[in-house]
Amino acid sequence: MGGMERPVRVLFVCLGNICRSPLAEGAFRKLLRERGLEDRFEVDSAGTGAWHAGEPMDPRARRVLEEEGAYFPHVARQMTREDALRFDHILVMDRENLLEVLRRFPEARGKARLLLDYLGGGEVPDPYYGDLQDCREVYWMVEAACRAFLDQHGPPVADGEGGA
Ligand code: 4NP
Repeated sequence: MGGMERPVRVLFVCLGNICRSPLAEGAFRKLLRERGLEDRFEVDSAGTGAWHAGEPMDPRARRVLEEEGAYFPHVARQMTREDALRFDHILVMDRENLLEVLRRFPEARGKARLLLDYLGGGEVPDPYYGDLQDCREVYWMVEAACRAFLDQHGPPVADGEGGA
């Protein structure tokens, strides 16, 4: 087959889709812009829960994304079965998210994994009851994991490209 491959579809998932998964989506989108790969990936985020569906992201998450030059417009939504079918990579923040995704959507088996697996393991702490600095630390953590994901799944980065 010649011609264009379809974009790789990446979905970030947390509980509320107002803090951690929007931070990860913003970090990933910024990396794609920096590497000129926006056409190669389709990116979104969702929550396992519906409590915050229809709301904008948490103001602390927004502030951190603005500080990092990674803000994007976002409306929270709950993950659906269609997401489980459609996305190639479903990157979740903690084990509870992973269990919930797999319990509700067996279709996600083999696609859903912890985002921090790309950084050697662990869970992204929930900053909901934390402060702005906790949100910043979450951003740095998910940004590093997104970088590792992209190093693995993106096209090779030539020497002298993609630095700083
Ligand atoms: P998130 O944070 O999963 O990172 O978006 C949370 C947002 C809302 C709640 C918990 C965590 N909540 O309990 O409403």
